[in-house]
Amino acid sequence: MSEAIRFVLAVAAGKGGVGKSTLTLNLALALQKKGWRVGILDADLYGPSLQKMLPPDTPAQQNLVVPDRIIPALSGGIKEISFAFFSQEEEAAIVRAPIANRVIKQFLHQVDWAPLDCLLIDFPPGTGDIQLTLMQEGSLSAGVIVTTPQEVALLDVAKAIQMFDRMQIPILGVVENMSFFQDPNTKTVHYPFGKEGGRLLSKRFGIPFLGEIPIDSAISLSSDRGQSLFETFPDASSVGVFEEIACKVVEQLEAFEHLAGGYLKNFELNWQVQK
Ligand SMILES: Nc1ncnc2c1ncn2[C@@H]1O[C@H](COP(=O)(O)OP(=O)(O)O)[C@@H](O)[C@H]1O
Ligand SMILES: [Mg+2]
Repeated sequence: MSEAIRFVLAVAAGKGGVGKSTLTLNLALALQKKGWRVGILDADLYGPSLQKMLPPDTPAQQNLVVPDRIIPALSGGIKEISFAFFSQEEEAAIVRAPIANRVIKQFLHQVDWAPLDCLLIDFPPGTGDIQLTLMQEGSLSAGVIVTTPQEVALLDVAKAIQMFDRMQIPILGVVENMSFFQDPNTKTVHYPFGKEGGRLLSKRFGIPFLGEIPIDSAISLSSDRGQSLFETFPDASSVGVFEEIACKVVEQLEAFEHLAGGYLKNFELNWQVQK
């Protein structure tokens, strides 16, 4: 991948349905709002969602000057690549592992991503072969871990954290999604999935806690409609939460970069999971 991508950030969970794509998308929008040039690589080949959540204005194209390279799709200035751009939805579910790996490698190495401040990679659920390929070949600067509060989710998410540790990729922090629901009328706060599971996870592994995203219909509605949450529901409580998380992510990435003298790849990791 080109040097002109400043950061590559993985958004992972080890589990489906916890909000990886939601966080990737809204983090991308929040970073863009801060003036960053952003790209999203949807690496969930078996459940691509970018096509629906942030439909492209211009499609992905073959680079006519260098034919083996792909020009990413664009949506509101965000560069994006998803398997769904190149396949029918039904096909996505039946790709064999070797082909899936080849596709991921193409997405990493043959797409004209640069120049970018941050390429966000929406990781597939699980801790298998594709995830390893992304970690070995994606020049990842760091990862963000998403979880929901309940214990069943936490078990899988812990596996994902251990995978990052094993691959020596620093984790910026844990984001808890679907943390609570606030009744808009009574303002009473409910915790349908339990309380503070994400905080416990971050304590257990000694990783920073980056924030709690509420259950908010503005999030799911904007995604289902393929619209930006920030533009469609600017007053939604979750907008501020995503902005805060983005601030913390920027702070930490820049701190890493500073420590590394501008070259993240040469940065000797000082982050360790507390065993
Ligand atoms: N905080 C939230 N409030 C409301 N709906 C949410 C929230 N987070 C995720 N969703 C919805 O839940 C579904 C699953 O989220 P998604 O980001 O696709 O999960 P994953 O990528 O981990 O499989 C989507 O329909 C999404 O819009
Ligand atoms: Mg997803």
